[in-house]
Amino acid sequence: MKKAFLIFAALALCWGSAVAQSAPVAPATPATPAAPAVEMPGIQSQNIMDVKPDASEAPGYAGQTNGERARVQRGNNAPMWRQVNSGVAGFSSLPKTQAPEAGVLIQQFVQYPGSRVTNAGEAWRQVRNNWIIPYGGSLVLIVLVAIGLFHWRIGPMVAHEEHTGRKVERFTPFERAAHWANAVAFVVLAVSGIVMAFGKFFLLPVMGLTLFGWLSYVLKNAHNFAGPLFAVSLVVVIITFMRDNLPAKGDLEWFLKGGGMIEGKEVKSGRFNGGEKVTYWGGVFVLGLIAVLTGLFLNHLLPVFDYSRGNMQIALMVHAVSNVGMMCMFMGHIYMGTLGTKDAYEGMRTGYVDEGWAKAHHELWYDDIKAGRFPAQRSAVAAPAGPAGKPVSV
Ligand code: HEM
Repeated sequence: MKKAFLIFAALALCWGSAVAQSAPVAPATPATPAAPAVEMPGIQSQNIMDVKPDASEAPGYAGQTNGERARVQRGNNAPMWRQVNSGVAGFSSLPKTQAPEAGVLIQQFVQYPGSRVTNAGEAWRQVRNNWIIPYGGSLVLIVLVAIGLFHWRIGPMVAHEEHTGRKVERFTPFERAAHWANAVAFVVLAVSGIVMAFGKFFLLPVMGLTLFGWLSYVLKNAHNFAGPLFAVSLVVVIITFMRDNLPAKGDLEWFLKGGGMIEGKEVKSGRFNGGEKVTYWGGVFVLGLIAVLTGLFLNHLLPVFDYSRGNMQIALMVHAVSNVGMMCMFMGHIYMGTLGTKDAYEGMRTGYVDEGWAKAHHELWYDDIKAGRFPAQRSAVAAPAGPAGKPVSV
């Protein structure tokens, strides 16, 4: 009895689902004589992926609605996809305040500098992959090679003044702390940025996917932590070094003579020379601030902004370009601050330089100290005792 019941139940289920599936095909209306097949104009059957927007000669083809199109080619809903692909907003139940773009599946067509006219996501991809990555990467490598060649053929700048053993205070502890906080953050940002942008070309093939994935993950987070440190220290560096980087007497001559590199005799300069001022205004002030602002924007850290996809794409392109520029400038700066100028690093490390160094590289500044126009000692920290570490004579 139980077995018979189970068989009956199974048969009933099968019949029920068969009826449910066939319901739309077999309407319950009384059978009518079959209508003669309607001859449809236009394309009868074609792979939808092969139908180009201008495939039909029919006037107003591109403006057809889904319904109009279906009369020509049943099941072709290209008009709907054309709308989706042109940035037309559809309906989304997500709150507009939190997800303003949720109704827009594919962004509208734009042309970013260097891209074709195409939807914004693709245009951004073209700018990044066809311009920023290959040309930005090449520029960084070219500058690196140029610095190497310069060091090899011309070599470091050496002070043509005897070391006196008397020390001049070049940077206060505060100035050095601001500089090094900024420099450390910059190096972390530059290394992590290079791995994120170019790592797949030179690290992925050697490391493999797993290791490269973890490395990128760690560095991406390091990038986000170093960013705010860089932002804050950059503002401090800008304020701290602004006064002595203002244009001054002697800068023009410095530029006209290429800093003295042509004649092999250094041109007199104030506390910072023309090259340092270019680094300050171009690299630190302009590019640094652009990189910081776009970086904060990309992290959604700036208030009152519209974080739309289009704005994020523009921010990322500007961020990448300013960072490539900064990397190029700071490679030059790091070279001049270490290998390129003998004993310059000592000033940033200890805060003091030899009087002879000051006279050789920044004679106008040295003259100011001698004349009492620039304080010889600005901090309470004395010069490090060295073999000949005597205080400066003014
Ligand atoms: C590892 C990286 C760095 C090294 C080794 C380095 C080294 C130096 C040295 C030795 C000086 C003293 C030059 C002199 O006495 O005239 C200096 C000055 C300076 N550095 Fe750096 N630096 C580095 C990174 C940075 C970064 C990332 C920034 C800013 C974004 C920066 C901004 C400055 C500024 C503003 C000065 C004062 C000179 C000027 O105004 O141009 N440095 N650096």
